[in-house]
Amino acid sequence: MDTSKNLFPHKHFVDASLRRKLIKQKPILIWLSGLSGSGKSTIANELEKKLYENKYLSYLLDGDNIRIGLNKDLGFSDNDRKENIRRISEVSRLMIDAGLIVITAFISPFEEERKLAKNLVKKENFFLVHVECSVEKCEERDVKGLYKKARSGEIKNFTGIDSPYEIPKDPNLIVNTENESIEESVEKIFKGILKKIR
Ligand code: ADX
Repeated sequence: MDTSKNLFPHKHFVDASLRRKLIKQKPILIWLSGLSGSGKSTIANELEKKLYENKYLSYLLDGDNIRIGLNKDLGFSDNDRKENIRRISEVSRLMIDAGLIVITAFISPFEEERKLAKNLVKKENFFLVHVECSVEKCEERDVKGLYKKARSGEIKNFTGIDSPYEIPKDPNLIVNTENESIEESVEKIFKGILKKIR
């Protein structure tokens, strides 16, 4: 049912630009995309720590955490992954409007949904980071034991094994966790966004 014709969005007095002045920072969405085990959550966590130490207000949305709450009704079919990313993009849009620096750590395997996120928060507020790491290396790390389960067939539709990962065509930045330390990757991202959030 299309209810949109009966909806009348309000314009609020306290808007994004007022909030921006109040908290003295510019919002941005730092979108980390990469395979399971590539290091997204670790980088996101360290990046948020660095932002906090530099007195920036941020919020981290992480795949495993969000799938336990907001998105616990979703699995790993292509459609569920798309819905996962659509909801996260909408949540990010609200957080951007609230003035926050948002970091997301989701595999986000499809170009189309990453584009959707970019369009929702607007190009100038979006910073896509490809957390690059070969599937071989992720499998070797296998921190959560999920690659093993995917290889044995215990889990289906596992990204990089029997579900696709579309390499980002036009990321703002690539970090490679096989060749760089976490500190180096975090520093690269921090430098990349610093001018945009001041
Ligand atoms: S996404 O593809 O929809 O963006 P998301 O980042 O939310 O994925 O969730 C990925 C996390 O879910 C992985 O890090 C892993 O811990 C867990 N997981 C469980 N099953 C799968 C699966 N089939 N494919 C990928 N990740 C899975």
